[in-house]
Amino acid sequence: MSDTASGPGWGECVTTEVKDGIAWITLNRPDKRNAINPGIVREMTAVLNAMEGDPDAEVLVITGAGDSFSAGQDLKEYFRETETWPPHERERLFADNAAWQWRRLMHYRKPTIAMVNGWCFGGAFQVLVGCDLAIAAEDATFGLSEINWGIIPAGIVTKSVSMVIPQRDAMYYIMTGETFTGIQAAEMRLVNKAVPQEQLRAEVTKLAETLKKKNPHVLRAAKSAYHHVRQMGWEQSLEYLMAKADSTTFRDRDRGAEKGMSQFIDEKKYKPGLGAYDRDA
Ligand code: COA
Repeated sequence: MSDTASGPGWGECVTTEVKDGIAWITLNRPDKRNAINPGIVREMTAVLNAMEGDPDAEVLVITGAGDSFSAGQDLKEYFRETETWPPHERERLFADNAAWQWRRLMHYRKPTIAMVNGWCFGGAFQVLVGCDLAIAAEDATFGLSEINWGIIPAGIVTKSVSMVIPQRDAMYYIMTGETFTGIQAAEMRLVNKAVPQEQLRAEVTKLAETLKKKNPHVLRAAKSAYHHVRQMGWEQSLEYLMAKADSTTFRDRDRGAEKGMSQFIDEKKYKPGLGAYDRDA
């Protein structure tokens, strides 16, 4: 895929740039603080579909245009204007939204990073938690603002938040609607780290480069296994993980485990404790 901002089904509310193996996906409604409207739902679905099969897009980064990551669901276009839609169409929109923000992202075939460059509210938390990893600008502003305008953090926001941050922090921000910074988000582990705004893209690029060096098939199995075992007991987890490990190795066209082992034990080319084996060897 070329370095073009648009593609089949996107380019207005979402733009993309695929460069050096990284797909930079930008929510592009800066005048509306990248609030998630039906257009973003439609275009993000198209983007995720397209990137899944694009060999040039090895790692996905989701970010926002201008000074916002995303101001959450669009109160006007997503909520108010759809009240008059036929119920089945509104329900389909909500289901499509849950699909891309949560289920699709969480189990996406490729690694995903949220690059939180600014405002991040409400429904944007689903995107944030849906991504595998997240790096924020220190001065980004986060908020579970739903309580401030009279709803609970629905969609799947409350569940998302409860999976990644401690109860006291989750309850505090759900109940007060107060904002917090990128630095605080890193302290409560909502994001992996916070860096000064001017270093944000470089830091995300560095992380993406690390992920690019790993065997993508094994990476996919590892993240999927993580999400599944969180819902299982110990005995089930052991059974599942042993079976998953076998099927991962069996289906790995790169023969990663074999190469990794022989480059360490026989060829003494690298140290697995300190970095990845050479996939091209
Ligand atoms: N839904 C719909 N429109 C939104 C929006 C949202 N979530 N967030 C921002 N906008 C729109 C504003 O209505 C405004 O539109 P207008 O220019 O047509 O009047 C435009 O984006 C700019 O917003 P503004 O409030 O002027 O920007 P700001 O930089 O002063 O403040 C925010 C930014 C994010 C603090 C503020 O816009 C806000 O509180 N947004 C709502 C956040 C929220 O509660 N999201 C949860 C939704 S689940």
